[in-house]
Amino acid sequence: MSRAALAFLGLTAIIVTLAAVLLFAIARIFSAARATGSRRRESGADTALLPAALQEAVARLKAQERAMTLRAEASERLSEEIITSLSAGLLGVNLNGEVQIVNPVGRRLLGLDEAPRRGADYRRLLADAAPVAALIEQCLTSGRAIVRRAIEMPAGHPGASHLGLTVSPLFGESSDMQGAICLFTDLTAIVALEEQLRLKDSLARVGELTAGIAHEFRNGLATIHGYSRLLDLEALPPAFRPYVEGIRAETESMREVVTNFLNFARPTQLTLVSVDLGAVAERAADDLRADARALHGDIVLTGEFATVEGDDVLLRQALSNLLRNAIEACAGAGTAPAIAIESDIDRAQNICTLAVRDNGPGFPDKVLDRLFHPFFTTKPQGTGLGLALVQKIVVTHNGRVVAGAAPGGGGQVSILLPLASNL
Ligand SMILES: Nc1ncnc2c1ncn2[C@@H]1O[C@H](COP(=O)(O)OP(=O)(O)O)[C@@H](O)[C@H]1O
Ligand SMILES: [Mg+2]
Repeated sequence: MSRAALAFLGLTAIIVTLAAVLLFAIARIFSAARATGSRRRESGADTALLPAALQEAVARLKAQERAMTLRAEASERLSEEIITSLSAGLLGVNLNGEVQIVNPVGRRLLGLDEAPRRGADYRRLLADAAPVAALIEQCLTSGRAIVRRAIEMPAGHPGASHLGLTVSPLFGESSDMQGAICLFTDLTAIVALEEQLRLKDSLARVGELTAGIAHEFRNGLATIHGYSRLLDLEALPPAFRPYVEGIRAETESMREVVTNFLNFARPTQLTLVSVDLGAVAERAADDLRADARALHGDIVLTGEFATVEGDDVLLRQALSNLLRNAIEACAGAGTAPAIAIESDIDRAQNICTLAVRDNGPGFPDKVLDRLFHPFFTTKPQGTGLGLALVQKIVVTHNGRVVAGAAPGGGGQVSILLPLASNL
């Protein structure tokens, strides 16, 4: 073989070897690249799986949290609704004496104008309701419940005049005392009813007891009066005549007093019928209108009149007594009487009110608690039995009567009667 052929062969072998090495290297690079690619794909799947699981867990937690928040809000709403719609008053204080809650009924019964600031001191808040504050303090210091206590609020208290109250210590989860919770109800109507029953009872007893004595007394007076009438004034020496005339006049006026008292004290028998109070008021006003007009005044009727079950003769007598008093009060003050019978129906409370108002001098404070006592009068010729009889008639109808000032400053006496179904 020639040298040239040998050189060609050698060169070819070198080129083939180099090509093989190159191919091998390329193959390795590709396989390495493939391996890296598949590894990357695998780890990519892992990293993609991880956030998905986390996200799911987070979403589940968030959903749970939302549900819990909704449940908490719902239960808060429910407890607020319960507290707000409680027919009893509720007041809660913590151990520092800071008010935590007062429901709307509680505010009304305690006479609070507006919702107190959370954390307000209960002693300051209840400055006008000292007996309530005293019981809360007793509970906070003793840690013991005070159950069903009836308390009378101070005179002039803007809320209820009588409260029935329970104060209980409030314990937290750790059984430590956290404060006190006070529940209270309005006893004003019950106390008024009890008073009215007591009055009805005592009037009936006074009636039975005194009517017998008064009757005997009246017979004795009639005998004295009769004998004095038998004395012939003309046959007596002139100096004695005034004495006999005095005996006649005095026995006559005493007979009148006893008769009036007997009328008042006699046990009242009601003849119950359905009574249209408008018609009763109209007739009572008609009876006395002439007297009012004689003084250049008048009697008017206003408002909505109810129908009650009652005795129309007695109810008319009660209204006539009030109208007569109103006219006399105006006459005494030299005022032309502007008198109104104003009626009102309170269906929620099941009562109706008949208020007789005048433009006279009104009631002085010092006589207000004696007005309805038998024989209390400020008039020289008064019997003092007019208002006592009004009260007796009204109480016998299971109602009550209240005297006070009319909006214009005159006198006002209101008769409150239960509506027909409640009698
Ligand atoms: N409308 C009124 N305004 C002011 N005072 C009144 C009125 N009605 C009653 N009074 C007072 O109440 C007292 C008692 O009234 P009453 O029992 O009817 O007896 P009387 O009319 O015989 O005095 C009266 O004397 C009077 O002082
Ligand atoms: Mg009178």
